[in-house]
Amino acid sequence: MKNITVLVSGGGTNLQRIIDCIDSKEISDAKINLIVADRECFGLERAKNHQISHQLIKRGKDFSENLENAIPENTDLIILAGFLSILNKEFCEKFEGKIINIHPALLPKFGGKGMWGNHVHQAVIEAKEQESGATVHFVTSGIDEGEIILQGKVKVDVDENIETLAKKIHQIEYEIFPKAIEKVLRY
Ligand code: GRF
Repeated sequence: MKNITVLVSGGGTNLQRIIDCIDSKEISDAKINLIVADRECFGLERAKNHQISHQLIKRGKDFSENLENAIPENTDLIILAGFLSILNKEFCEKFEGKIINIHPALLPKFGGKGMWGNHVHQAVIEAKEQESGATVHFVTSGIDEGEIILQGKVKVDVDENIETLAKKIHQIEYEIFPKAIEKVLRY
């Protein structure tokens, strides 16, 4: 049985997908041992609804250290599922190869500092890209720079706006995230 710790900052629809895929065995032989949020958010409510251990660790001084202390000993994989805090170098190095993130664009394009949420979609639309998508990748201390595990593409239509693109990308995330998790866990 593999133990997964999930970190969230927002609505947690990807977290919900992970919970559902563990239940349906699309992600096999795994359990979530802890959900950590860095702020009050609906992701925490999902943890409560499913009776999964959860903790709120607010940003600020010693954030990465506090987070490191919270990660259970038996954790095999740390998943950032819409997690907006930057993890420090020590944290990334300690868990190297064991942390993955999902990014709402086709990395290495549209990644790095400031490229999160709707900022990403806006940049993609402004650049008149014909496609975008989502990337699941390993986390290293360089923002959005770790090895790519899986990508899924969507077409960017000429009349696309931030909301429609965000919606499409969420759909592709729900497809690739469980697959990427299964791949990493069974590697
Ligand atoms: C996703 O679009 C993901 O790519 C990004 O944050 C968003 C989280 O959405 N890192 P949700 O909270 O899972 O709905």
